[in-house]
Amino acid sequence: MNIDILLGLQWGDEGKGKIVDAISPDYDIIARFQGGPNAGHSLEFNNKKYVLHLIPSGIFHSDKLNIIGNGVVIDPAVFKTEIENLGPSVEELSERLIISARANLILPGHRILDAAYEKSKGCLKIGSTLKGIGPAYTDKIARNGLRAGEILREDFRDLYNRHLKRHLSILKSYDFNFDLKEYETGWFEGIEMLKKFRIVNTEYLINEMVSGGKKVLAEGAQGTMLDVDFGSYPFVTSSNTISAGACTGLGISPKSINEVFGIFKAYCTRVGSGPFPTELNDDTGALLRDIGNEFGSTTGRPRRCGWLDIPALKYAIMINGVTRLFMTKSDVMSGFTTIKVCTSYLSEGRKCKEIPFNDLPVEPVYTELPGWEENIAGIREYDNLPRNLKGYIKYIEDQTGVPVTMISVGPDREETIIRKPL
Ligand code: GDP
Ligand code: IMO
Ligand code: MG
Repeated sequence: MNIDILLGLQWGDEGKGKIVDAISPDYDIIARFQGGPNAGHSLEFNNKKYVLHLIPSGIFHSDKLNIIGNGVVIDPAVFKTEIENLGPSVEELSERLIISARANLILPGHRILDAAYEKSKGCLKIGSTLKGIGPAYTDKIARNGLRAGEILREDFRDLYNRHLKRHLSILKSYDFNFDLKEYETGWFEGIEMLKKFRIVNTEYLINEMVSGGKKVLAEGAQGTMLDVDFGSYPFVTSSNTISAGACTGLGISPKSINEVFGIFKAYCTRVGSGPFPTELNDDTGALLRDIGNEFGSTTGRPRRCGWLDIPALKYAIMINGVTRLFMTKSDVMSGFTTIKVCTSYLSEGRKCKEIPFNDLPVEPVYTELPGWEENIAGIREYDNLPRNLKGYIKYIEDQTGVPVTMISVGPDREETIIRKPL
């Protein structure tokens, strides 16, 4: 029971990177279990901001082991850039970052296919980050993948060419221009960078360390509403972002899981296409985007903003078995006279509390709560928070039945209120 999971309960960008970094001192291993460079996890400390795409958010703690699990899809080119931008030397980083031999690689063909598929979808496009995620997971499931453990094989180049041939033949049926060389050069340089790291059966490593009493934090990417099974399909990512994904994405048993930390913003955002019942296409939405600096960490796209959606939050809590809630970006909500919270939906004129399985439009039913004026960024004690913010938190706890034990009041790792220690 030494593994805790931290994952997003909304449509991604809940602040996972910030919180994983802040709580890493409590763990020995930080392990990413799914997703790939579509993720953008930001963290800030000592007045510096970093955005991680593939590397777990515990990497800045020199005494922690970080693992990229088998459930992650790795683009070697992105990996190389990220390693080079971190600060510490490659030698130092290779001591504390280990990669699963079973993790599938994102190939140049996957990136091109991603763009070709999106273009062919026209106005029904998913709004993918175009990092090759969908095609890479498609090949994995179709048993056509190329895995990290393969890169040391002598015939690796032949293997690669075989995959490329297959991708090029699919691309022939799409009206899509591309420059393969542009991707290939960086990709092969990335392969050389990957070779400097230990690529092992991380499932043995994690299980052995857990048996020896070490503590693991499994770091999710994206969010529950982007899960391929339970999100707003087809406007989702291509992996299981939920707590079950940590078992398949790291090779751990459900019995080894202790707590599931569900992280949510005090409001909602979404980047890319798909249903978003509480979206605000008005000045309030624009204000949330401005104050919250809601622009994608990976693509820079403006995020769609809206009020907190309790039915979606409850759904995510149910699917993941969340034991504690962590609320982020509470500081962004300061200054609103009233705050709306969606408590149910109207579907074809009838009240419903369930998330429709398809993209049937639903209309949010709101409850209004009093806002607060105070700037809360400097507050570190729960008791010192404005009364109405505490009322907002209490309302969420009553609605969901799960305690909110951590409140983030700013992007810096220090700007965190711990109500109940881990
Ligand atoms: P992630 O993908 O879940 O790790 O989240 P992102 O890093 O993509 O987006 C969260 C953004 O909010 C980042 O720019 C963070 O630096 C920032 N952030 C995180 N927590 C807080 C908070 O409590 N308040 C404010 N104002 N910003 C925060
Ligand atoms: P983090 O880990 C927010 C969205 C994309 C698109 C859909 C599919 O930073 O929270 P994909 O590239 O996976 O094919 O895109 O999912 N998306 C994210 N949105 N945060 C993310 O990651 C996301 N990763 C993918 O915008 O709508
Ligand atoms: Mg993000």
